[in-house]
Amino acid sequence: MESIVSLCKRRGFIFQGSEIYGGINGFWDFGPMGVELRQNVKKFWWQHMVAMRDDVVGVDTAIIAHPETWRASGHIDSFSDPMVDCRICKGRFRADQLDISPDNNKPVCPTPHCKGDLTEARAFNLMFRTFVGASEESGFEAYLRPETCQSIFTQFKNVITTSRQKIPFGIAQIGKSFRNEITPRNFIFRSREFEQMEMEFFVKPEADIQEEWYNYWKERRYQWYKDLGIKPEKLHLRDHAKDELAHYAKACVDVEYDFPFGRSELEGIANRGSFDLEQHIKFSKKDLTYFDQGTNEKYTPAVIETSAGCDRTLLTVICDAYDEDIIAGEKRVVMRFAPHLAPIKLGILPLSKKLGEQAQQIEKDLRRFIRTEYDDAGSIGKRYRRHDEIGTPFCATYDFDSETDQKVTIRHRDSTQQDRVAITAIRVYLEDKGVF
Ligand code: GAP
Repeated sequence: MESIVSLCKRRGFIFQGSEIYGGINGFWDFGPMGVELRQNVKKFWWQHMVAMRDDVVGVDTAIIAHPETWRASGHIDSFSDPMVDCRICKGRFRADQLDISPDNNKPVCPTPHCKGDLTEARAFNLMFRTFVGASEESGFEAYLRPETCQSIFTQFKNVITTSRQKIPFGIAQIGKSFRNEITPRNFIFRSREFEQMEMEFFVKPEADIQEEWYNYWKERRYQWYKDLGIKPEKLHLRDHAKDELAHYAKACVDVEYDFPFGRSELEGIANRGSFDLEQHIKFSKKDLTYFDQGTNEKYTPAVIETSAGCDRTLLTVICDAYDEDIIAGEKRVVMRFAPHLAPIKLGILPLSKKLGEQAQQIEKDLRRFIRTEYDDAGSIGKRYRRHDEIGTPFCATYDFDSETDQKVTIRHRDSTQQDRVAITAIRVYLEDKGVF
């Protein structure tokens, strides 16, 4: 992980939030390369979950919802982790993540050499609180959303009456969520501000129909990570045991990945039954039922949820791509991103600054189609190394022969193999290689 975190900073993928003020735990900023990679992950999710389907539509809802939303969903009462304080070092920890002392069967303070006495565990609500209104006295307390799905449920009626969808169908959303995690850790794996990619699929509340769609989405979501380019041998599905299920879930399976710090959850696929819509019907007293015109039946739909973390997917893509090898006797670090995910698809490198004008023209012509970068700084070897570290799959070198033959040399990041390609054919060449 240390090498990965260091590369992420060195090459402008991920920075500690508020670094110049000493940082703030659990908050991260994405640099020029990180933001491109993140966009590509989200684009791939949206393409597969919304754009290429007839039965899923998208929404983008507010981060702050009416506080009753969270009373109905159960978050105000039960969205908490058990927390303990150390009476000696004053550290604050999640009780369920601590080692247990064999002497007294109690959790042990994890601060090195402390061994301090810990308080009894108490429930710590993970929602961030804020005030809406001009002053704390006249305003009201509200929460930053801890998950994006609740406003999909509260907007269910509006979406169904305006989108001409019929059950079964889904509503998808990508957006920020906030959880005041007691112990954010493992780089961006567990943060306090993060992004989710969630889809709620509404089906008829019959057991066999729910099971059919649950199995369908389980298979689709697992396949999605493979299509994204993640090594299949590092991906796993883990069914939740009955005693592990969240209060709303009838069944749940996690997609997991073998991170350098161990196997951990990327996404949960859950059969939430009709719990959410029923709760919002109860608390809002609004009719969120569905009338099936085909069968003249009225019912509260059940929901199959696919809930992925954008940041965890990003971390997976980064960990999966990180590699070190030896090229011409020298060690190199190379990010082997799938071409469609790479932040920069093509580096355009003039062999000499004298050739800059022509090379820049090629870069400008391709810019409309793909993310390119013109680079004339330093030796060609140094430029290749930099592009290897940011994961650019192809670099085109414009050399002195290019002026006469109107061709460039395209170098492949992974194999370092080189092809001579006509300038007018670069776009098609890259299309063939899966860049678009
Ligand atoms: N709506 C269901 C839900 O939110 P969850 O298991 O709490 O379920 C779903 O979260 C996904 O959101 C997780 O699998 C993970 O990818 C991501 N996620 C949750 N908490 C996170 C955190 N603190 N930091 C980064 N990602 C997180």
